[in-house]
Amino acid sequence: MKKLVFATHNLHKLEEIRNILKNFEVVGLRDIGCHEDIVEDADNLQGNAKIKADFVTDNFHLDCFADDTGLEVEALGGAPGVYSARYAGEGCSYHDNVVKLLEAMKGVENRKARFRTVIALNLNGEQHFFEGIVNGKILTEEHGEGGFGYDPIFQPDGFDESFAEMEMETKNQISHRGRATAKLVEFLEK
Ligand code: IMP
Repeated sequence: MKKLVFATHNLHKLEEIRNILKNFEVVGLRDIGCHEDIVEDADNLQGNAKIKADFVTDNFHLDCFADDTGLEVEALGGAPGVYSARYAGEGCSYHDNVVKLLEAMKGVENRKARFRTVIALNLNGEQHFFEGIVNGKILTEEHGEGGFGYDPIFQPDGFDESFAEMEMETKNQISHRGRATAKLVEFLEK
């Protein structure tokens, strides 16, 4: 079976993709002895995904894919975007970010937003990118206990629930990451 590195330390993400990509031996950063925090200092999602995939391919000489996700709010000119993880500052919690975004959106009428994921894949000396988007809106307060990150204040178009109120399976089917991953899988299984 062909070995493919997923440049992540997140065991949940790793498990998820292993269940989908049955024809590959998918391993994480820890499995290849990479314990560093790869510095993601690009100013866009594609750049950060590329940095992570290239780090592994350059240093470990292995085929690899990496993802990067951002929440892009129209009224905020696309913020927090690539800075979604640290919107409320370095070392902040998911809840700090939610509070900061609700504050920034106080009284704002245009609540349109989207989650966007970009996956970079280095395979057999070539680089490929896959994008997944889910459109929706920013709620005025938190709804639901599930999920993570901005899930309690993001409601996808066509649904009456926030991501945090949805069954995980439903969210995964329509989510940014789910859609980008589906494109990656379709490409790899071709
Ligand atoms: P990452 O690139 O997957 O690490 O995502 C960057 C940041 O985007 C996370 O720290 C979260 O704040 C946010 N995020 C990514 N995916 C989701 C999601 O599915 N729901 C809510 N927030 C998310």
